[in-house]
Amino acid sequence: MDIPTTLKNIGAGASENRATIALTFLSVALTAAFLYLFYVRPAASLGPEQPIPFSHRVHAGDKAIACQFCHSYVGRSAFPGIPPVEKCLYCHNYIIAGHPEIQKEHQYFNTNTPTPWAKVTYLPEHVFFKHIRHIKKDVACAECHGAVERADRLDRRVFLMGFCIDCHQRRQAPIGCWLSCHN
Ligand code: HEC
Ligand code: HEC
Ligand code: HEC
Ligand code: HEC
Repeated sequence: MDIPTTLKNIGAGASENRATIALTFLSVALTAAFLYLFYVRPAASLGPEQPIPFSHRVHAGDKAIACQFCHSYVGRSAFPGIPPVEKCLYCHNYIIAGHPEIQKEHQYFNTNTPTPWAKVTYLPEHVFFKHIRHIKKDVACAECHGAVERADRLDRRVFLMGFCIDCHQRRQAPIGCWLSCHN
């Protein structure tokens, strides 16, 4: 057999199998997309594991506890604050007091150790951000933090400049920029 005939034969075989080949490629691609969406992506955006698996869905969602009940300083000072364990025990001395995760709270309280919550939001260091001005202008928590009240474990969130500027343009907030925002 000469080479051109061989190539022709292979070509003919390939065109018969075209549907099979296409299907194989398609299913490989779909599997890869599935794996990416369900494993890689959430793992990359899910925030760090916390010392106590505190759930915003349970507290801010189901039980409808106001954000500012726990993050009391958000409208008043530069730092919203993560609630101290006393605040948890204010309820949990009575609610599910025997729960093992609540026992951990007692341990932190009794040993005077601040709960080592891991930080979830990230702002590049040279950016200057304060909550107060935003809260006073009624910018909702969710506009920046998303649907926190639907999350058991918060997503890691990195705030980039485009995000700030987009909204500042929409809301006609200062963009005389970033003189006001950069240190
Ligand atoms: C205003 C009251 C209140 C405060 C404050 C509060 N909780 Fe809760 N917490 C609840 C209620 C209500 C439940 C639901 C109990 C149930 O399932 O019966 C709950 C459930 C829980 C659970 C059980 C696990 C789960 O997800 O169902 C954990 C753990 C927990 N809270 C941790 C905390 C921590 C940590 C803090 C402090 C940062 C805190 N809570 C502050 C009311 C409160
Ligand atoms: C019962 C108390 C409680 C309530 C109510 C609550 N939070 Fe929290 N919040 C916490 C605790 C404890 C942490 C630290 C653990 C964590 O990140 O899950 C936290 C962490 C956060 C963080 C991440 C902080 C960081 O960068 O590490 C954001 C953002 C936040 N809360 C927003 C909200 C918003 C918005 C609401 C209302 C929809 C809300 N919280 C209601 C207790 C509360
Ligand atoms: C305009 C956008 C914006 C709004 C609105 C906003 N936040 Fe934030 N929030 C941020 C940014 C940006 C950070 C990260 C700041 C940092 O890391 O220094 C942050 C951080 C936080 C933290 C973590 C602070 C810490 O000390 O680690 C909490 C808690 C929080 N926000 C709660 C809230 C609550 C509750 C509301 C609504 C009452 C709210 N935020 C509204 C942008 C916003
Ligand atoms: C969802 C809308 C929104 C987002 C997102 C947002 N801002 Fe703002 N910001 C506002 C509004 C509205 C004002 C105007 C407040 C006023 O007029 O007092 C403001 C005001 C400010 C001010 C005060 C300006 C001054 O001259 O004092 C600073 C600083 C600022 N924002 C920084 C930031 C940074 C940094 C980010 C990103 C991490 C950000 N903002 C994200 C809406 C937003």
